[in-house]
Amino acid sequence: MTHPEPETTPVLALEEVSKSFGAVRALRGVSLRLYAGEAHALAGENGAGKSTLIKALAGVHRPDAGTVLLDGAPVEFHGPADARDAGVAVIYQEPTLFPDLSVAENIFMGRQPRRSLNRVDHRAVKQAAADLFARLGVDLDPDQPARGLSIADQQLVEIAKALSFDARVLIMDEPTAALTGSEVARLFGVVKTLREQGAAVLFISHRLEEIFALCQRVTTLRDGALIGSEPLEGLTEDDLVRRMVGRDLDELYPKQETEAGEVALQVRRLTREGVFTDVSFEVRRGEIVGLAGLVGAGRSEVARAVFGVDRFDGGEVEVLGTRLKPGAPSVA
Ligand SMILES: Nc1ncnc2c1ncn2[C@@H]1O[C@H](COP(=O)(O)OP(=O)(O)OP(=O)(O)O)[C@@H](O)[C@H]1O
Ligand SMILES: [Mg+2]
Repeated sequence: MTHPEPETTPVLALEEVSKSFGAVRALRGVSLRLYAGEAHALAGENGAGKSTLIKALAGVHRPDAGTVLLDGAPVEFHGPADARDAGVAVIYQEPTLFPDLSVAENIFMGRQPRRSLNRVDHRAVKQAAADLFARLGVDLDPDQPARGLSIADQQLVEIAKALSFDARVLIMDEPTAALTGSEVARLFGVVKTLREQGAAVLFISHRLEEIFALCQRVTTLRDGALIGSEPLEGLTEDDLVRRMVGRDLDELYPKQETEAGEVALQVRRLTREGVFTDVSFEVRRGEIVGLAGLVGAGRSEVARAVFGVDRFDGGEVEVLGTRLKPGAPSVA
């Protein structure tokens, strides 16, 4: 599939990159070009090679073959610090901040402005962090300890840190997997701001609607091979799924006729205070029951309580007629 790309030189690119782990060919001659001011999605099923591609871009893996190009010139990153110094920042799903340091200290770890006698200039550190948050348009307290920050806030601290290194490329490997709906919206606002300031963004998500909401271009991988790289405009979610799996959705999940049998799992008025209230449903043998709701609606919490990982305050769970004790995973 060929599609016109911007005529400018990509900020960061891979040309014909291959990477194997033993017998697994994780990337097979994959090319990808990231442009300033563009958010680029990387799509593909589990194991398609997305994280491997990111690690090749970020200096974590050395490609077996092919080239990484920075501003059109071949580069070799000998580790993540090399990539970072070249302006390539990776934001992971769960950042690893130092819990006992403040937000500002985390951002400027090891390179705080100093005053006479080599003392850290705490005021300057705090001000610099506040300036970064202002550029991102987020409201975070630079003095707050990193301990206790939500994952979403920790990611924003990482993004501020990337900005402090003048990152021109922001790479995000499934950053939204553990975020609530409003946190995703805030992150997308920040990414849009950075993009408008000229950053190139590479974004991985399993949620197609997020790809369409955030990105202008998409590259699809299947089994380590490049399927295509194209603008998202004019594509539908079905088009994208077809590229990812190589088949239509209804072939992928053919409707199966089954007979629902006796009630296997019965959940009655299950309540955990402040988390979920009066949840009742049943699952019969031979049946697949979906538990739907928005991010943050309490689906995982209900499942954890039903399984016995978390306690619940009211209601009951029965498996094949036997009532389970709350808060004890059972072998039923
Ligand atoms: N360090 C490694 N050692 C051995 N095999 C690996 C390693 N990293 C990845 N692989 C294999 O390479 C293939 C691609 O993995 P990769 O993690 O890049 O996929 P992915 O597209 O990110 O998948 P997911 O959506 O599950 O995160 C998989 O078969 C995986 O098992
Ligand atoms: Mg991955």
